[in-house]
Amino acid sequence: MSRRIVVLTGAGISAESGIRTFRDSGGLWEEHDVTEVATYEAWKKNPELVLRFYNERRKQVIEAQPNEGHKALVRLESKFDVQIITQNVDDLHERAGSKNILHLHGEIRKARSTYNPALIYEIEGWELTATDRCEEGSRLRPHIVWFGEEVPEIENAAALAATADIFIIIGTSLNVYPAAGLVNYAPQACPVFLIDPNEVGGTTVRNTIIIREPASKGVPILVDKLLSAYTSK
Ligand code: OAD
Repeated sequence: MSRRIVVLTGAGISAESGIRTFRDSGGLWEEHDVTEVATYEAWKKNPELVLRFYNERRKQVIEAQPNEGHKALVRLESKFDVQIITQNVDDLHERAGSKNILHLHGEIRKARSTYNPALIYEIEGWELTATDRCEEGSRLRPHIVWFGEEVPEIENAAALAATADIFIIIGTSLNVYPAAGLVNYAPQACPVFLIDPNEVGGTTVRNTIIIREPASKGVPILVDKLLSAYTSK
């Protein structure tokens, strides 16, 4: 059996692909009020605004390309059993070629029925409109976990974290729970690496090896190190 690496990624890994983060200076939540665009109440109150906000984000994601950070994670698969848990709603891990990806906060290129959450559809192009309906006739909403909503994949993510031999955290401010607590499910003996150019709070709870670099630089450095330091058995 190969060693299992669990990677938790956040907006920072996609920053150098041109996708804005949320809480850095110039981040999305500086310009937009979360409660106006990323809650179920916002959707009820002003669906047009919510659709417009996510249509804009979707356009940017479609135009973006995976960067060296996403690509380096794919190389890890030559020696390790790699599981990515991403808070990101973009598809840059998929397009880079990573195999096992769990999206905790949804996927921006998909829509789902407001009535039956099991009905999920790929969105053709960038636009989801107010008239788009599921096959049962209900309105479609962005396939995004909004603030205040449950995170349906969290139990699967926690179970995966518990199987980690090595845990890597990349580009997340660790502000949003339950995602930020996932590292606590990793076994105590499991080394934890954190890649972020800025200081990240809340990670001092366990021994964390910090690589203070942007993802495009830090991830290839760590991947090279792991590929040469560990054997696959
Ligand atoms: P944040 O915007 O909170 O944090 C981004 C992190 O990326 C920060 O720690 C930055 O220092 C770091 N960063 C910036 N540039 C980087 C780079 N080039 N390389 C590596 N790291 C870099 O984003 P998240 O922690 O992902 O939820 O936010 C978590 C959730 O909050 C998101 O999934 C989103 C948001 O509201 C939903 O939309 C449901």
